[in-house]
Parts: sequence; structure tokens; C-alpha cells
Amino acid sequence: MTEDIYTDYLIIGSGVAGLRAAIEMSKSGKVLVVTKDLPTESSTEYAQGGVAVALSDEDEIGIHYEDTIKAGDGLCDEVAVKILVSEGPERIIELINWGAEFDKEGTKLSFTLEGAHSRKRILHAHGDSTGREIERVLINKVSIIENVKKASFTMAIDLIVDENRCYGAFLLKDKEIIRCFAKATLLATGGAGQVYSRTTNPRVITGDGMAMAFRAGAYLKDMEFVQFHPTALFKKNAPQFLLSEAMRGEGAILRNIHGEAFMKNYHPLGDLAPRDIVSRAIISEMVKNNSSYVYLDLTHLDENFLKKRFPTIYNTCLNFKVNIAHEMVPVSPAAHYIMGGVETNNFGETNIKGLFAAGEVACTGVHGANRLASNSLLEGLVFGFRAAQGAIRYVEGFESFSFRKDLYNKNRIQYLDSFEMDTIKNKLREIMWNKVGVIRCSESLGVAKSIIMPFYERFSSSIFLDPLSLELKNMITVGLLITESAYARKNSVGAHYRTDYKNKLSNWEKHIVIKRKNNGIEIS
Ligand code: FAD
Ligand code: SIN
Repeated sequence: MTEDIYTDYLIIGSGVAGLRAAIEMSKSGKVLVVTKDLPTESSTEYAQGGVAVALSDEDEIGIHYEDTIKAGDGLCDEVAVKILVSEGPERIIELINWGAEFDKEGTKLSFTLEGAHSRKRILHAHGDSTGREIERVLINKVSIIENVKKASFTMAIDLIVDENRCYGAFLLKDKEIIRCFAKATLLATGGAGQVYSRTTNPRVITGDGMAMAFRAGAYLKDMEFVQFHPTALFKKNAPQFLLSEAMRGEGAILRNIHGEAFMKNYHPLGDLAPRDIVSRAIISEMVKNNSSYVYLDLTHLDENFLKKRFPTIYNTCLNFKVNIAHEMVPVSPAAHYIMGGVETNNFGETNIKGLFAAGEVACTGVHGANRLASNSLLEGLVFGFRAAQGAIRYVEGFESFSFRKDLYNKNRIQYLDSFEMDTIKNKLREIMWNKVGVIRCSESLGVAKSIIMPFYERFSSSIFLDPLSLELKNMITVGLLITESAYARKNSVGAHYRTDYKNKLSNWEKHIVIKRKNNGIEIS
């Protein structure tokens, strides 16, 4: 064990939520932002379509509120949604003042449409690189703040928790475990898409924050609500690259393998129906036509427009030998976002004192059972800022500072050989996709549980000294939490669809909360 580190605020993760929080916390004390890869490697960096905000002349905060509540299918926390939509404009204007360049039409900001939005309200940057622009601005801003230090390629492996109070985290750097003691700790580790074999999420998004929080005794809420994006590239030897929903906002049409446009058969909003409905419609068409994909058709749109409006998507598809202006693109759904996560209030507070969470790792209830497209970059800004306020309030009331030194016991350190690790990881990701995916039932979830549980029992209390094995341990934990929650929700609501309980049956409004009990799991 190398030397201990001390800081006022420890932030784990350098996406939109972590960086926005760092800027605020730095006004009250020293901040350390740790990130397990390059600072930019995050979902934020790859966000395409844009950021939803009620700033256009034709829009109102109240309409953004209504659309968010509707997409959430009855399970949104109304107060959290009000906060998101009403504080959103201020956070975006602040970002513009710090240098964010969103696309314009003439001198006015340009807003586009996405599924389930009743107004054009999505701001975008460089066509389809909105996340990269936000990340660029926040990293620049943080880099000139003296109170903020960054540590990249530094992975948080567990929280330091004693008697329900968090004192920082154990970090792994170059195979050494470092204790980082902090007065307040913020989880901003993003989602868990890598738990699925088909996902739009980058490699680093392995559910670490959720798994660490669970081990520490935090409550996790609504883990069954996983959003599957309808349109990820489906092509042999190509990545599951996202084709933004904004493409349908600009007129792209979904067609089955016979070339038939099908979305109007499923929802009055057609191609712009809520994401969960579009993903299920695609699966139905795939099953009906015995195919592994459908098409996204942009061939009726002007090539120059497509090159300018979607430069990253146009060029990436071209690299994989698909010219989106001339041929229909094979696509199928992929795990994209998790609405559930570490339960927090509207200041990022968890049930563990000193532990805060913001962004995709957290569950404020703002997305309910299904997130409205482009609401999560806004969530990162609004709730990253608020979690910092919560943490500052906590730290400023802090009196004593004690910690536990006995957590790591060398006997628990294990080594997994890479072959075994790959085999388990592939099995987990396949089972999650096939049995806990877009469509679920008691039987499929039971099979998933029976396969994942033995992995969980084998690895849950082991410590590994390599990041990939640690990630696998976290993925197993989060996979199990999603499966158990999906099993417990005997209802179909939002993104959670069960063929054995197809409707909203009694008790559907209830949230599912999952926590650790001794070495097992308790669901309420
Ligand atoms: P992230 O941006 O994912 O950052 C998480 C950070 O935590 C990373 O730095 C990661 O390396 C770090 N980390 C994780 N575990 C550890 C650990 N153990 N130790 C140290 N560091 C760790 N949303 C929109 O609103 N609009 C869009 O257009 C949009 N497009 C998207 C496109 C794609 C391809 C994807 C994948 C997502 C998209 N989303 C979009 C969703 C949105 O990007 C994310 O929900 C949001 O960026 C999450 O931000 P975050 O700060 O919570 O986490
Ligand atoms: C997209 O561009 O389709 C992604 C938007 C989102 O996930 O909010």
C-alpha cells in the first residue's frame, strides 16, 4: 500500500456530471477528480444528438416538463423533473459563456427534434458531436482552477465506509492500492452499458460506481429500467456505433428488411415515438421477418446536408463501407442508458453520509421508467451542480475525521487469468442481452439469475489488482442487480417489458429498491 492521499472532495469520474461538480466544489475546498482512463473517455464524449433545453422561441419549460413526464411512463419524480427543466436553461447559458459552441442558424441557436419531444428543443454541436464539445469546455474550465487536481488511469475500486459514513475510496494505480481520504465523495462513474453484449456505451462504462455503492451498503433504485437505443449499426466486423435519434428527427425512416416503413403501425408518432416503443417495434419486425436487423433509410435526404449535419456518423459509416446517403443502414437496438442507479435526493445525497452521486450512476427519479432523449447531458449539468452544493453543505458542517485502516486483507487478493476472464465476461454479456434485454419474462430472467449468481458468489468479495478483473466483478454485480430487479417487477412499465405481465398491473407505481444484506441481496 503506497502513501495515503487526503482531499476535501473526491470525485470519481470525469464526464459531464463529475466535471460540472468539480467546478462548483472547488469554490469550497480542494478537489481530486480520478478517472480510470483518459479524462475524456466517457459516454459524455460520445454523445451525439444533443442536449434538450427549453430555450427556443417556440418552447416552454412547462412543455419540456410534460414531455419528460410522459416519456417516464408514470414513474418520474415530479420535483426532480421540475428542477431539471427549470434549472437547465441557466446551466446551458453558463456553458455557452464558458465557450461552448452550439450550432446556429444565422445568429440564433439551432434546435432539432428527437423522439417524444413535442417541440424542437435539442441543441447540438458540430452536427453530431455535442458531447465532445461539452466535455472540451468543462475540461478546459477545470484545468484553469487551481483547487482541482486530476488523476487519470486511476481506478476507484471500493469506497472507504465505516458505520454508514464514507471517507473516500481505495484507488488502483499501476497495480498499487492507494487510500484516498476525502470529506465528501461523489460517484460520477456513468452507467453500465458494457454489461450487455450489444451496447452503444464506451469500454469504460462497466457499472463500477453502482457496484461499489452496493458493496458499501447504498440503496439502488429502479435498476430494471434499461433503455435500449433503437438504432445502433448492425454490421459484421463493425462497432455497434450509434446512429443518432436526431437522424429520425431530420426525416430518416425505419424500414423492415422488405423495405416497408413500419413505425406508424405501432405508434401515432411513427418514427419519433418514445425509444422503448421503437425498440420493441424493431424487435417485433425482426422476429416477424426472421432477420437480425432493420434498416434506417436516409437515402431521400440530400448528401451534402447529411455530411454537414451528421459528419461523424457519415464518416464512420463510410469507414465501414456504408454510404448513408446512397444505401439504407442495417441497425438494431443496443443497451444505451440505465434509468436506475444509486438512489439520491435532489442534492445528490445517498443513504450513506458523505457519499454523493450524480449523472447516469445516480437515480434521482428524473427519468422514471424511460428517459426522454437528450435529457441526460442536461441531467449531468443540473444534478452535478446540485450534488456539489449538497457536498459543500455536508463538508462545511463537518467536525471530526476518522477512518478505517483494516479493509484490505491480502488474503482476499485474487488473480484471474485472462482466458477465464474473457470467457466469463462474454457469457455474462450474452446472457444479459438474450435474457434480460428488450423483452423479458420470468423464465428468461430465472435462467439469467441461475447463471450469474454463481459468478457473483465466487467473485463478489475478491479484490483484484488488474482493472479488467475488477470491472468484470462490477459487471457481474450490476448484471445481477438488473436481473433481480427485473424479476421483482411483475409489470410492464416504460423500458421494462415482460411478456408474462404485459400491462401495468396492480402496484405498478412502486419503485424497486435493492440493497446488500449481509452477503446477499434484499429487495423492497
Ligand atoms: P460519463 O460521461 O459516462 O463519465 C463516467 C466517467 O467515470 C468516465 O470518466 C469513466 O472513465 C469514469 N469511471 C467509471 N468507473 C470508474 C472507476 N471505477 N474509477 C475511476 N473512474 C471511473 N445523452 C444526451 O443527453 N444526449 C445525447 O445526444 C446522448 N448521446 C449519447 C450517445 C452515446 C454513444 C452514448 C453512449 C450515450 C449518449 N447519451 C446522450 C447519454 C449520455 O452521454 C450519458 O448519460 C452521460 O454523458 C453520462 O454522463 P456521466 O457524467 O454520468 O458519465
Ligand atoms: C442520440 O443521439 O440518439 C442519443 C440521444 C440520447 O441518448 O439522449
